[in-house]
Amino acid sequence: MSGEGLFVAVEGIDGAGTTTQIDRYAAALRGAGRKVHVTREPSTGPIGTFIREVLGGRATLRGGPGWDLMAHLFAADRLDHVRGEIEPALREGAVVLSDRYDLSSLAYQSVASDLSLPAHEIVTWIRSLNRFARRPDVTIVVDVTPDVAAQRRRRRGAPEDLYETDALQARLAKAYLHAEVLVPADRVVHVRGDGTLEEVEALFRAALAPFVEPAG
Ligand code: TYD
Repeated sequence: MSGEGLFVAVEGIDGAGTTTQIDRYAAALRGAGRKVHVTREPSTGPIGTFIREVLGGRATLRGGPGWDLMAHLFAADRLDHVRGEIEPALREGAVVLSDRYDLSSLAYQSVASDLSLPAHEIVTWIRSLNRFARRPDVTIVVDVTPDVAAQRRRRRGAPEDLYETDALQARLAKAYLHAEVLVPADRVVHVRGDGTLEEVEALFRAALAPFVEPAG
């Protein structure tokens, strides 16, 4: 394929299985001869690396990791990610699969705000912070019930990050079910993520098939 590639964002709560599904789908696409670039947010750039330190409690923000400050950090990382990594890969014709994008900010930072302002004001503000972040061609939302995701997180055994409490994740799962409200101008496709790896993989592939043409 020549010219612009395809920009796919993949979203869901922690433990939804987005990373595993992206890896499997990327392998399948590469096997079919497609150029693929797998990436994620927080990115591996300098701002994203700092965000991961904050999420893991290894870096401390003096006023605490408030939702509004975190929204700024995620938005700054996103522009660095788009300009330094996503757009160059798209120019090379790659299918870019991003594990999270600005829908994560709209879901996580809204929920974490505890609605200290009316919900629509928070969403509008987060959107404006991300005003210059290129829109994905399609966003896949992997919906899982909070219990299934919690089991997967426990099995993974990694220490809990900032947002990985069961109560917050349950509210996030609801927000993702209605993701269209958060990004009304975007193309959003939901995939049911509670099944086995293979079941979800099949649904994931079917959801993207209309957008990802075979190599030619
Ligand atoms: P995650 O994909 O869970 O990384 P890992 O698998 O390495 O733990 O992302 C880290 C966390 O960051 C996750 O809890 C979601 C959160 N997050 C936001 O709150 N807002 C954002 O804009 C993004 C991109 C992520």
